[in-house]
Amino acid sequence: MAVQFNYVAKRGWKPKNPDENYIITLLKVELDEKAVKEAKYHHSKKISEKKFRNDLFEEAAGTVAAESSTGTWTKVYDGKDSGINLASEKRAMAYDLDYKRSMFKIAYPIELFELNNVSGLLAGVIGNIAGMKMVSAMRVYDIRFPRKMIEAFPGPRFGVEGVRKLLKKPRGCLVATVPKPKIGRTDEEQARLAKTLFTSGNGTYDGIKDDENLTSLKFNDFYKRCKKVLAEAKEAEKKTGHKKFYLCNTTHSDINEMMKRAKAIKNNGGIFMMMDVVTTGFAAVDYIRRNNPGLAIHAHRAMHGFITRDNSPGIHGEGKLYGFSISMIFLAKLFRLLGVDSIHGGSPLAKMEDYGEAEYICKVLQEKNLKPHHKIPTLGQNWHKIKPVWMTASGGLHPGDFESVLSKLGDDVIMQCGGGLLGHPNGVAAGVKAIEEARDIYYKRIPIRKFVKENPKSELAVAVKHWGYGPKIVY
Ligand code: 3PG
Ligand code: MG
Repeated sequence: MAVQFNYVAKRGWKPKNPDENYIITLLKVELDEKAVKEAKYHHSKKISEKKFRNDLFEEAAGTVAAESSTGTWTKVYDGKDSGINLASEKRAMAYDLDYKRSMFKIAYPIELFELNNVSGLLAGVIGNIAGMKMVSAMRVYDIRFPRKMIEAFPGPRFGVEGVRKLLKKPRGCLVATVPKPKIGRTDEEQARLAKTLFTSGNGTYDGIKDDENLTSLKFNDFYKRCKKVLAEAKEAEKKTGHKKFYLCNTTHSDINEMMKRAKAIKNNGGIFMMMDVVTTGFAAVDYIRRNNPGLAIHAHRAMHGFITRDNSPGIHGEGKLYGFSISMIFLAKLFRLLGVDSIHGGSPLAKMEDYGEAEYICKVLQEKNLKPHHKIPTLGQNWHKIKPVWMTASGGLHPGDFESVLSKLGDDVIMQCGGGLLGHPNGVAAGVKAIEEARDIYYKRIPIRKFVKENPKSELAVAVKHWGYGPKIVY
């Protein structure tokens, strides 16, 4: 309970020059009904139910601000050497309280944090607050970094433009495939698949990516796979005249091993490393960004669903929340700040279509002066010198989706089709052709339905007959 100081700002208060002086977060809470009952029992004054609940909501907002900045649940010693004056001066303030939607912002003075330390920041702003007994649910929608924090991080080494230069591909999306079955191919078999992907069709297929659970296995050793797949990529480049990339999975809980793998990619002529950024953690991403041997970083986000997924009606503000979660928008901001060059951000054809969450994630990754979303509770962001990041659209994507996904996400997207290529009824090479066709007609502004009607024998038409248009349920 925020008993020592008031951590709730007066109505109408706004942080002064926030992009210089504050870190801001945006949250929603749900009061715990058991705690409400208990509070009622101890409450003697006769006030309306509405006022009573508003007071409790205010207390919850103040408690979050207190616990995540300088306070604790009880009044503590405030005499000589207690630090109480600075604790009061630098305390966070809950403000912009929305009593109807139980939402509020918190402004943290920048002096509360080490500005180049994401792990320390998170331990503060979201570290302990999910344990509060007086709330039964909470969602952290967004965070807004001040200029000094943006300047404390390098951001992506390459970003969108840098990767385009490496690939000599000045415009258009990139297409890539995750081998399926997820596990099964030997390193040799995966290299053969890479050859087929890179040399089939018009030879314009861009990339291959390891699946998240393919690390280094007895029958598919990281170092052998890295060498063989990159050798095929080089061969294919010579043959086709098109640059190729391999998102080679370095993920390991031992950061030294991850670095060793990054060096192997570099030594074999690779340009991209892949790492699972949630399972390896923020410190790993920061370390790898600052110390890897000049590779672009592809971020896969395995496990994020246990953090970001929220099926309650209140996920976008209105209605009740059922659980505790942090949005993907919040995570995407952290990973752009830490400096990945591309990251999975869902697809507009997935579950958030109604609200355009994937589209907004794409903007979070790519816009310089990001404005808040008109519907999803968000804060916007000025990214200053931090470069834009590739959005990776993945999960159940197939050629029939290209037109609608690309029209929503724009050009700076890696279109990843695993099953959507390897499940083509006519085989792998036909899958490559279908994707090349879907991509090429999109940029020639030929509507996919028209093309399919006029070219019923094309591999794209076969793919559309098989999967249709629109999303496939991904289990
Ligand atoms: C990935 O790692 O991106 C997924 O495994 C995608 O696979 P899918 O395209 O078959 O859904
Ligand atoms: Mg996968």
